[in-house]
Amino acid sequence: MDHRPFGRTGLRVTPMGLGLAALGRPGYINLGHGDDLAGRRSVEQLEDHAHRVLDAAWDAGLRYFDVARSYGRGEAFLGRWLRRRAIDPEAVVVGSKWGYTYTADWQVDADVHEVKDHARATFERQWPATRAALGDQLDLYQIHSATLETGVLDDADVHAALADLKADGVAVGLTLSGPRQAVTLEQALDVTVDGTPLFDAVQATWNVLERSAGPALAAAHDDGRGVIVKEALANGRLTPRNDEPAFADQHALLHDQARRLDTTVDALALAAVLHQPWADVVLSGAARIEHLHANVAALDVDFDDEAADALAALAEAPAAYWQTRDELAWT
Ligand SMILES: NC(=O)c1ccc[n+]([C@@H]2O[C@H](COP(=O)([O-])OP(=O)(O)OC[C@H]3O[C@@H](n4cnc5c(N)ncnc54)[C@H](OP(=O)(O)O)[C@@H]3O)[C@@H](O)[C@H]2O)c1
Repeated sequence: MDHRPFGRTGLRVTPMGLGLAALGRPGYINLGHGDDLAGRRSVEQLEDHAHRVLDAAWDAGLRYFDVARSYGRGEAFLGRWLRRRAIDPEAVVVGSKWGYTYTADWQVDADVHEVKDHARATFERQWPATRAALGDQLDLYQIHSATLETGVLDDADVHAALADLKADGVAVGLTLSGPRQAVTLEQALDVTVDGTPLFDAVQATWNVLERSAGPALAAAHDDGRGVIVKEALANGRLTPRNDEPAFADQHALLHDQARRLDTTVDALALAAVLHQPWADVVLSGAARIEHLHANVAALDVDFDDEAADALAALAEAPAAYWQTRDELAWT
């Protein structure tokens, strides 16, 4: 698989990476997650499963791995996999995140699965835990779901701590969520410490249903920031498993284009992201190996103008998209 520069970080990334949101804990919001685990939900079973999916990703050529403090034991699972396979830190790029605390206690029906707090104290508590799990394999540390409301973009104390991390050789980024991703990113690009832009990278949601962050992500890319795309499949809505009657027309359109290009709906949706010149890495969030393989096939799709024009009709209003996203159940 190709490697390309990741902004000005000096890191080189593959165009597709693997996210561990659904692999580090028993409960997640992706469609059908409960079925993926088939009742195998102990810590040992989940770690074994995560390692098998990581092996499949490695064999497919993926060299970017995305995790977070709040993905249950995701950091520990990834760290042990990297050590057991004796993977050279230079051979992979690993990004993690701080700012959400996992609170589900390994229960799928927990009232609250994660709690957000972007104060410096949270960073001070979570950073040593991330370092302990991932050691010198960690390349990028991101604020998890930064929003204007949390105040983190105005918090000089947090910025100073992140600047120190950068000085120690860890790239610094932020991830975005919600209908105001673009405006949040525009503000983040202006954050400096001692005259130097703070954020090396951004991770945001962009898919054929929710495109509103596109221009801001293009600007970030042009400005030398690395760009990672998450939720490219809208948490499973852009896959064959979405049988929502309300999505039937959109599904038919996706199917027609997928059939024309001799591919699957999920690979087509991922190819639409790969087609964006500003997207450095797109994440697969697959928890099943067969889905991961289907996702990787996106790299071979001959995405063309006809597909781009047809899929443009799928764009939803951001507020409506995020409302649907907020209503997804943890399973
Ligand atoms: N705020 C943040 O920073 C943030 C937020 C969300 C996500 N992320 C990162 O982005 C990564 C990817 O996002 P995501 O997992 O939420 O979303 P996603 O990639 O949009 O969707 C993943 C879903 O698609 C399903 N799928 C994929 N291929 C399929 C196929 N061929 N047939 C049927 N189903 C298929 C997966 O099923 P299976 O699971 O059954 O394979 C899973 O349910 C996460 O792992 C995480 O690392 C970050």
